[in-house]
Amino acid sequence: MDLERLLTDRLAPAFATVAGGPVDPLVRRSPRADFQSDAALALARRLGRPPRDIAAAVLDHAELDDVCAAAEVSGPGFLNLTVADRTLAALVSGLAGDDRLGVPTAPAPETVVVDYSAPNVAKEMHVGHLRSTVIGDAAVRLLDWLGHRVVRVNHLGDWGTPFGMLIEHLIDLGEAEAAQELSMGDLDSFYKAARVKFDADQTFQERSRQRVVALQGGDERTRRLWRLLVEQSERYFLTVYALLDVTLTRNDFRGESAYNDRLGGVVDELDRLGLLRASDGADCVFPPGFTGRDGEPLPLIVRKGDGGYGYPATDLAALRHRTDDLGATRLLYVVGLPQRQHFAMVFAAAEAAGWLRPPTRAVHLGFGSILGTDGRMLRSRAGGSVKLVGLLEEAVARATELARAKNPELDAESAAEIGRAVGIGAIKYADLATDRGRDYVLDWERMLSLDGNTAPYLQYAYSRIRSVFRRAGTDARPEAEILLAEPAERALAFELLGFAGVVAEVERTLEFHHLAGYLHRLASTFSAFYERCPVLRASGELRESRLVLADLTARTLRQGLHLLGIRTVERM
Ligand code: ARG
Repeated sequence: MDLERLLTDRLAPAFATVAGGPVDPLVRRSPRADFQSDAALALARRLGRPPRDIAAAVLDHAELDDVCAAAEVSGPGFLNLTVADRTLAALVSGLAGDDRLGVPTAPAPETVVVDYSAPNVAKEMHVGHLRSTVIGDAAVRLLDWLGHRVVRVNHLGDWGTPFGMLIEHLIDLGEAEAAQELSMGDLDSFYKAARVKFDADQTFQERSRQRVVALQGGDERTRRLWRLLVEQSERYFLTVYALLDVTLTRNDFRGESAYNDRLGGVVDELDRLGLLRASDGADCVFPPGFTGRDGEPLPLIVRKGDGGYGYPATDLAALRHRTDDLGATRLLYVVGLPQRQHFAMVFAAAEAAGWLRPPTRAVHLGFGSILGTDGRMLRSRAGGSVKLVGLLEEAVARATELARAKNPELDAESAAEIGRAVGIGAIKYADLATDRGRDYVLDWERMLSLDGNTAPYLQYAYSRIRSVFRRAGTDARPEAEILLAEPAERALAFELLGFAGVVAEVERTLEFHHLAGYLHRLASTFSAFYERCPVLRASGELRESRLVLADLTARTLRQGLHLLGIRTVERM
């Protein structure tokens, strides 16, 4: 149990007695004692009593003797709480013997759908897809570890009018040649070549149009060629996922085309519910609360004038599939912030139709852009969009180089392993350590730096602890008695006990920078502890106790990084 929780549970009844109703004791870490509670100050006005009196009365009623060594009123009416060493030691021992490091599994597991990555067939993944993939995968790992049933959905862009032109281009190239180009990840040149022909050549344009009709009509050969495009692209995306070390598999692809059969039903149902209105020849829903610049209601176009269905219809059909067939009660969409309004309108339309109702909720986990060091949208030297694989390869190459420079004796295999873990880790961490909604700058120097709030710093901290154990020649004994005499030992104990609280917070908000910040604090606190408290040079019980603290730190760093999708290495 984390301490904030424990103290809250002890203070809440006392506050309730004094205030005559429920009160949140507002317990937090304190620079003056271990913890403080500020709730008396806020109550003073309501109760018409001086805050110090209230705080003193709460202390009279609270049962704290077995938890706190000291509890006193201070300043204008704070409660300062100092935790007893033996309480702290007992809690740390509890962690040491717990594989889950104090983090409980969800009491009421849910089915959660995480819609993420979602690149488009025959198009290069760009940095937006990188962020979606990294954030979505962290969400998957966390929710899965907490015991939820997690369904990954890779909502591949595999349908729509561009496929006419793409298939025609494929026919021109010849199947073998096209397959080769696509599986090599030459997606952008394939797409661009098709586009150029489409823009320049009337007959190609006409062929493309007819091809769309054949595709929608289910023409056998057209379908086969379309599947070829999809499969080659999927194959390529899987190589990116492998390089990126994410949990997405080939079974997680469920592209837009998977919902084709349900689109008609969506429109019919909306019509039956009286939610459908014709506007400029299209069938639209006008979800309440969405207006344009001049205050006119904004349409969500579910069927276009030409009878075709668009992006919103597919998302509505997918939402119904996720709630009705998969039984999901939490729907997450990890997609860039430019699509915020789209999702808000889709969710509003689904609510109006009764397809989305409590306890089921849908959340758009939006994110900002990745910028270059010039503060502008990340662009390649030629000015085009940056190819994701190139970025990942550069990260690995740079990290491998750094590992070699740091340790010239490293054999090639180890250098490659470290380079991969650190390079990919650095990319993911730079993303996850920032407030999700904010843009961030891709700055190689900073993200690969061994100090600062970076993956390499944390990975290095982990490997240093592992080297302590190699030198000690033993593992920690979880049942060893925990001794907390030094302030640096107590500080470390408090950080270790904070893991569960942080994980709970991230489960709720899916803001991974809280976890990143926590791991960084933990590593720094450990480093201060390690400077002041000799481990290997200590002897007897003290050494045993400190080995447990070191081991717990390593395990927590490793688990925390694992939740972010980042590997640890034993040596760096
Ligand atoms: N394929 C889209 C894109 O590249 C992202 C799809 C996101 N998911 C969804 N259910 N709409 O922008």
